[in-house]
Amino acid sequence: MAEHKTTSFSSKAGLVLAAAGGAVGLGNIWKFPYIAGENGGGAFLIVYLLCVALFGLPLLLTEFFIGKRSRRSAFGAFSALSGNRRWQWLSWLSMLTALVIMSFYFVVTGWCFCYFCEALTNVFSGMDAAALTNHFGAVVASPLRQILFSLLPVVLTASVLWFDVNKGIERLSKILLPLLLLMMVLMAGSVLMLDGSNVGMRFFFQTDFSKITPSVILEAMGQCFFSLSIGMGALITYGAYMPKNQNVAATSIQVIVLDTLVAILAGIIIFPAVFAFGFSPAEGPQLVFVVLPAVFGQMSFAWFCGVLFFALLCIAAITSTISLMEVAVAFICEASSRPWSKNAKAHPLNRHRSVLLVSAIVCVMVVMCVMSYTGQWPWLKLFGYDLFSAFDQLSSCVMMPLGALGMALFVGWYLPYKGEKPYSGENGFRRAGTKVYMLVLRWLVPIAIVLIFLNSLGLLGV
Ligand code: TRP
Repeated sequence: MAEHKTTSFSSKAGLVLAAAGGAVGLGNIWKFPYIAGENGGGAFLIVYLLCVALFGLPLLLTEFFIGKRSRRSAFGAFSALSGNRRWQWLSWLSMLTALVIMSFYFVVTGWCFCYFCEALTNVFSGMDAAALTNHFGAVVASPLRQILFSLLPVVLTASVLWFDVNKGIERLSKILLPLLLLMMVLMAGSVLMLDGSNVGMRFFFQTDFSKITPSVILEAMGQCFFSLSIGMGALITYGAYMPKNQNVAATSIQVIVLDTLVAILAGIIIFPAVFAFGFSPAEGPQLVFVVLPAVFGQMSFAWFCGVLFFALLCIAAITSTISLMEVAVAFICEASSRPWSKNAKAHPLNRHRSVLLVSAIVCVMVVMCVMSYTGQWPWLKLFGYDLFSAFDQLSSCVMMPLGALGMALFVGWYLPYKGEKPYSGENGFRRAGTKVYMLVLRWLVPIAIVLIFLNSLGLLGV
């Protein structure tokens, strides 16, 4: 058997902050505003919040339970709990999802690093909306620069995993998250003073129900999975580190509140600025990168705010890439140390080799993403999309919901049938809570995911 994870986080708050640090990332600040902007603002927000309540909470609980009971990472958890290897496909799916997400996530992290350097050298001062849009165009037009900037965070992330400094990350999250929140509140304050900011607020908070279409629902569900990092086993690892008496329900709610708060704050910063400066809310993936420098431009201490914010954004992205890469590394590491054979010991070299292998795969995928996105290799397409957009969609709207569906069926139906109930015990649940949780997990979550899937394949004709 592989070594059981017995080390716990130094405090319960530390675990919440570390889990939230993994969840809060580019998904909240880069992806949420651009997806919301493309999908009707207020209409998207309502559906998103519903998805968080319907899928987010029960699935977060489920992943934590799996980890807490099995004390394993996503690799060994399913077979340890079920006693057979029939559910191993969920581990494989987790690893593949992590790889697919990393290939575009590192590209966007690269943009953040690039913008951080440019904020340092004050490149944006005096640029208007058109100039900022052109500037982003110039950044993504140079494949070499993009590749170099994306490989920097790959190396950084790999070094953290190589030297195994998870404790350091826990400490980092403790300082980073509150600082990021404070900075965002300041930015929101200054944006709301702009003339015309109310147009953006109305766009973001007023729901036009006619804009809620099936594709908005699919996008909102995908964004919810992506932002909370559910459906790919990343949170199982955190569950494995939970002390026995940790209240899982409270922890999940805290992580969700923090994550959603950051996303909404990002919307409150971006949308008023979009309208005040004359951008379009449906700019796509570049939205945040063209709008934010304009926001700093009108803040006092513009240079300092810009530098600090992009620094925080880079760190927030890195805390996410660390836990993403950890999923793939742990998988390869544990798969190669054959945990099911009796006398196999975790070989220290295996971890280092796994880090190298995963980094190499990620580097190749990053290069492919950039070459496809910038149109250098126009033949490199998936389902007719460039690789960047295809991977972005594929992970959020297909792979993570599929993983979530698998886990809901595993904990909702299969484990109780086997006599195992990972949700019972000291998890902060009263009896009524357990009943509601099981009902939602068994019926609501799987049925909703399947319906949304079928609909997006055009099989329901809604
Ligand atoms: N939730 C992260 C974000 O919002 C992205 C992410 C998705 C992630 N899956 C993950 C992070 C798994 C860590 C682990 O940016």
